[in-house]
Amino acid sequence: MKTLSTERLVLRDWCEGDIGSSVHNEDAIRYLLKTKNNYAVVLKENNEIIGTIGLNEDADGQLNVRNVGVRVLPQYQNKGYMTEALRAVIDNAHNIADALSWFCKVEDKRSQHIAAKFGFKYVKTFAKDKYGLPSDFYYYILEL
Ligand SMILES: CC(C)(COP(=O)(O)OP(=O)(O)OC[C@H]1O[C@@H](n2cnc3c(N)ncnc32)[C@H](O)[C@@H]1OP(=O)(O)O)[C@@H](O)C(=O)NCCC(=O)NCCS
Repeated sequence: MKTLSTERLVLRDWCEGDIGSSVHNEDAIRYLLKTKNNYAVVLKENNEIIGTIGLNEDADGQLNVRNVGVRVLPQYQNKGYMTEALRAVIDNAHNIADALSWFCKVEDKRSQHIAAKFGFKYVKTFAKDKYGLPSDFYYYILEL
C-alpha cells in the first residue's frame, strides 16, 4: 500500500527486514509480504515498529469493504498513536475501498470509543454462539 506519514509515524508495507519484530511473528510477516494489506506502524523517533493496521477481508463478507484490524504494543498504548495512524489510513482508504468496517468485542470499551471517534456506525452484533467466536462482537461501518 502507499506509504503514509504523520507527525510521529510512518505507515508502510511490511518487508523482509521486519522479521524479528514483536508485533507480528515470522509466519505472519511472510504472509503479509504477499498480501500487502497491512501497514507496519513505525515510530519516527526510533524507527521501531510499534503496531499494525490491517485492511482485511470484511468480517461480514462485503466486497469493497475492508475490515480495519489494529494493534499497538502495550508499552506504546494510550499515547494517541493509533488515533494518529487511523486518521491517515481513513483519509487515504478511498483509494482501496468504498467503506471500512470495525469489529470488536462487546466488552472492549476502548475499541468502541475509537470506532465512535472516527464516525463508524454500529450495524449489528455477531453472536458468539452463532459464529463460534470467543465473545459477542459489535460490527460497525464507515462509508468513505
Ligand atoms: C486498541 C489499540 C490499538 C489502541 O491503540 P492506542 O495507540 O493505545 O490508541 P490511542 O492512544 O490513539 O487512543 C486510545 C483511546 O481510547 C481511549 N480509552 C482508553 N481506554 C479506554 C477505556 N477503557 N474505555 C474507553 N476509552 C478508552 C483513550 O482515552 C483514547 O481516546 P481519546 O484519544 O479520545 O482520549 C491498542 O490499545 C491495542 O493494541 N489494544 C489491544 C488490541 C486491540 O484491542 N485491538 C482492537 C481490536 S478491535
